Amino acid sequence: MTADTRPIGVFDSGLGGLTVLRAIRERMPHESLVYFGDTARVPYGTKSAATVTRFAREILDFLVGQNVKAVVAACNSASALALDALRAACTLPVVGVIEPGAHLAVECSRTGRIGVIGTRATITSAAYERTITALSPDATVLSQACPLFVSLVEEGWTDHPVARMIAREYLAPLEHRVDVLVLGCTHYPLLRSLIGELMGPDVALVDSAEACAHEIARLLDERDACAGPRTRPEERFYVSDAPEVFARLGERFLGRPVGPVELIAELDEAKR
Ligand code: DGL
Repeated sequence: MTADTRPIGVFDSGLGGLTVLRAIRERMPHESLVYFGDTARVPYGTKSAATVTRFAREILDFLVGQNVKAVVAACNSASALALDALRAACTLPVVGVIEPGAHLAVECSRTGRIGVIGTRATITSAAYERTITALSPDATVLSQACPLFVSLVEEGWTDHPVARMIAREYLAPLEHRVDVLVLGCTHYPLLRSLIGELMGPDVALVDSAEACAHEIARLLDERDACAGPRTRPEERFYVSDAPEVFARLGERFLGRPVGPVELIAELDEAKR
């Protein structure tokens, strides 16, 4: 077996994808990782498919220029809206968060009644619903957009009375109606304990970040493209705006300090 020490490229609209990077790091301690957070253009969850696809294509080109061996679209909104375009645009394996999350949800559900929460873009795209019902045609998917969750998490209000009030409102239509709930947004794992408490112990929460990390590990293994245990893994972080804010807030998502963060103000210029 030959070791492939090229990094895995991970991107998100901003900070949230660090939850996916964290899950990848836990599962694959030897892999080098390059992260791009599009902090100048966040949020993606309120934007159209055409716009998100354009942004994602630009980031893909940047990551390809970093000599990555695979690309992870850590952003649920980008995965929902742009994954096909990304796969069509390069020969590298491209993994999103929707397919792995949907698989895990189907595996975990006993009743076939599955809830999905995400940004408005993700929920409107019906990407989770389509993927889940393709895997399990009898499944019933109840979807709920929870746009305010992103702001609550970025504000650090994950265990705040306001977060509880808003979560109650969003989750009420799903309570007692599903046995699995997909956390279909990069930010939602930080609200996991509140969401779990409100949904109750009989509802399994599916974290698409963990499912995605599992999938990229499986894919690299299948292609014999793992880094191998002897390499010293690197981590590089790039953002399109305000690297100091990213470094400060990122710690909460990553669970440890973020390394040096480099500003890439013009993706086009970075390519040249
Ligand atoms: N990263 C986005 C997602 O997972 C959430 C933040 C945004 O709207 O850009 O959908």
